[in-house]
Amino acid sequence: MSKVTVVGAGNVGATVANVLAHKDIVREVVLLDIRGNFAKGKALDSWQQAPIDSYSTRMIGTDDYKKTKDSDIVVITAGVPRRPGMSRDDLISTNAKIVSSVTKSIMKYSKSPIIIVVSNPLDVMTYAAHKVSKLPANQVFGMAGILDTARYRAFLATELKVSPKDISAILMGGHGDTMVPLPRYTTVAGIPVTEMITTKKLNAIVERTKKGGGELVKLMGTSAWYAPGAAAAQMVAAIVRDEDRIFPCCARLSGQYGLRNMFLGVPVKLGKGGIKEVLKLKLNKSEMKLLKNSADHVKDVMKTFNKMKVV
Ligand code: NAI
Ligand code: 2OP
Repeated sequence: MSKVTVVGAGNVGATVANVLAHKDIVREVVLLDIRGNFAKGKALDSWQQAPIDSYSTRMIGTDDYKKTKDSDIVVITAGVPRRPGMSRDDLISTNAKIVSSVTKSIMKYSKSPIIIVVSNPLDVMTYAAHKVSKLPANQVFGMAGILDTARYRAFLATELKVSPKDISAILMGGHGDTMVPLPRYTTVAGIPVTEMITTKKLNAIVERTKKGGGELVKLMGTSAWYAPGAAAAQMVAAIVRDEDRIFPCCARLSGQYGLRNMFLGVPVKLGKGGIKEVLKLKLNKSEMKLLKNSADHVKDVMKTFNKMKVV
């Protein structure tokens, strides 16, 4: 059974750890935070939930990287979240240093882990973790697409008055307002969504999805954690169980969609060892244009990161 480390015991990290423990599929979760006692408290609280909800996954809280030794999977959530009025990109000056130093420390104690990045700005922080870790690209990827697609699916479920379970969809691009929901690849129990909703209503949902993170920041004063935490835990589960799930994840591109040497949200097959394949959808001209626009935006943020010379 696997060992999973979650770095950052804040809103998202603690949720990833707790949701994962409930799945009861790994032996141990190490929850690490620079606030060591906070991580210890969160881990102890989660462990005390085990007898009630009936799971065996051990949870350890710490600020000591030695405890992360030989982790199979590491989820990085360390860093600052955005506050009202901020974009995800505004977080780069703080989070680039945090994600780079966390990755370095992880690599000291685990030889070849799979790293799932959650910290924002997501696409560029995943690029940073890959650069620092020097791991193969199929072992370093980011969580965003599952969350953004879940928001899109939830909005559609509300509008169509159907269960969100029956809505299947895919979304591509960067984790920001340029993300690309794909109505042509959206179905309700196999029925094309366009047969069930007017174009006007669908477009409004697409626009709401793009700004879905910001909507929650406005409501709560900080960013979301339940859906993000569950999304990262779902990725861990797909790997641990070798499920070959098809998820939109932030992955390194090497020519797919005409893009290379960058990380961007694309559909991948996720299972043992990490990303087994980047799927190549037959996007039409307007979808490709939207994807390229999103990639250009991510490239701009990458430039800012490279100028910082953190790595
Ligand atoms: P939070 O503030 O609740 O938790 C962050 C934690 O990181 C804190 O406990 C802090 O002590 C810890 N931390 C800071 N520096 C550290 C370091 N060097 N080493 C270890 N721990 C460190 O923030 P929250 O809400 O959990 O968000 C975390 C990150 O995830 C943010 O950057 C946020 O923007 C991002 N996020 C990304 C999502 C996605 O879809 N990719 C969704 C939601 C949040
Ligand atoms: C979200 O989309 C802030 O990236 C975070 O909720």
